[in-house]
Amino acid sequence: MRIVILENAQAVAEFGANHIVSLLNKQPNSVLGLATGTTPIKLYKELIAANKNGHVTFKNVTTFNLDEYLGLAGTHPQSYRYFMNEQLFDHVDINKENTFVPDGSAAIPTAACEEFENNIQEKGGIDLQLLGIGRNGHIGFNEPSSSLSSRTRVKTLTEDTVNANKHFFTEGEVQPTLSLTMGIGTINEAREILLLATGSDKAEAIKNTIEGPIAARCPGSILQMHQHVTVVIDKEAASSLEDIAFYQHIERENKRLKEGTAL
Ligand code: F6R
Repeated sequence: MRIVILENAQAVAEFGANHIVSLLNKQPNSVLGLATGTTPIKLYKELIAANKNGHVTFKNVTTFNLDEYLGLAGTHPQSYRYFMNEQLFDHVDINKENTFVPDGSAAIPTAACEEFENNIQEKGGIDLQLLGIGRNGHIGFNEPSSSLSSRTRVKTLTEDTVNANKHFFTEGEVQPTLSLTMGIGTINEAREILLLATGSDKAEAIKNTIEGPIAARCPGSILQMHQHVTVVIDKEAASSLEDIAFYQHIERENKRLKEGTAL
């Protein structure tokens, strides 16, 4: 795991966006796994700016989103399809036919999940999966106790997750408590993972993800088994880590190696 600790949420967003831009410039037909929620909003703004300035194109990019609320059609303002259109897709040169979000309005959700998995396979798998993390360590909507080898399926949200996302819903609006989510096994098959977290309410989840045992209790901890993970966090999200000085030392050493001044 590469652990990058930055000053604030804006720096995290810029680092994440630059990482994605350089991947797309190297491999313009990349398959990206995307996330919703508060954390990636700033990063998407950076990607939109890079696209408008001509620094990157999404013309040949395919995307797969992590999750969707069960029961919400893509036209519903609180659906994750709607969120992605508003926060990214409507503002860049992507072909929307190449953007996949699990279908929350499917008559047979299990069939929609299977189709979603098949689509990922057909597109050759995910090159880079962007992740946020829940306060309880969930990735996608894989709540604690999810199988660490799970595939895309219907999952029940915890009360904490429902509460954390309440602010996206207006008063009186029905907030779903079930979701369709990429499985932990599906996520972990992405060739590269980029996990972003900011703020002190993520400190515990980040500690358990990086330094805890691999356990279904903290779904993010499965990333310890992945060979190519970058965790980008601000100081607040890093505040409970025990080995923070070592992670910063590694970053400095890697910089020296890159510059050729290490040996
Ligand atoms: C969103 C997702 C979730 C969020 C997590 C953090 O597609 O899969 O795992 O990444 O709930 O949400 P925020 O960023 O709102 O704190």
